[in-house]
Amino acid sequence: MPDSSKPEVSPFESVDPAPPSESKNLAMLQNILCDENQKMFQRMRALFALRNIGGNDSVDALASAFNSNSALLKHEIAYVLGQMQNSHALPCLIDRLADNEENVMVRHEAAEALGAIGDQRAMEVLSAFVKDNEIVVAESCEVAIDLLNYVASNNLDYS
Ligand SMILES: [Fe+2]
Repeated sequence: MPDSSKPEVSPFESVDPAPPSESKNLAMLQNILCDENQKMFQRMRALFALRNIGGNDSVDALASAFNSNSALLKHEIAYVLGQMQNSHALPCLIDRLADNEENVMVRHEAAEALGAIGDQRAMEVLSAFVKDNEIVVAESCEVAIDLLNYVASNNLDYS
């Protein structure tokens, strides 16, 4: 019997910084996620709920908060998009990695997510930034490239 007194366990086997919101209403979760006046804890709860719901619409809702002012939130969005392993997230992650004005932790996490998704179409942009001036970004691209090569050479259906 599931223990209803405990927050929902992450299907991603990760220990998340906040339990997911109970709502399954995408529009409501997106509003909370994008609301700069909400507490970060509540925004993170919405973020993990969207991740757990999954699918292209959840990816779009998450990506819409890449306009946020918070580098912490944007880095967490990139992280969960990597966990979701949905190629629908490739364009928004490529945008974050390629934006030189973006916070370095967000760019780092976008690069790692592009590796985690396992879609070879990310190879081109990762190769373009593997010599980035920001060493954290460059190293993340290197790790992601190695992961994509590993996935390809082992014929893993990883996406
Ligand atoms: Fe990170």
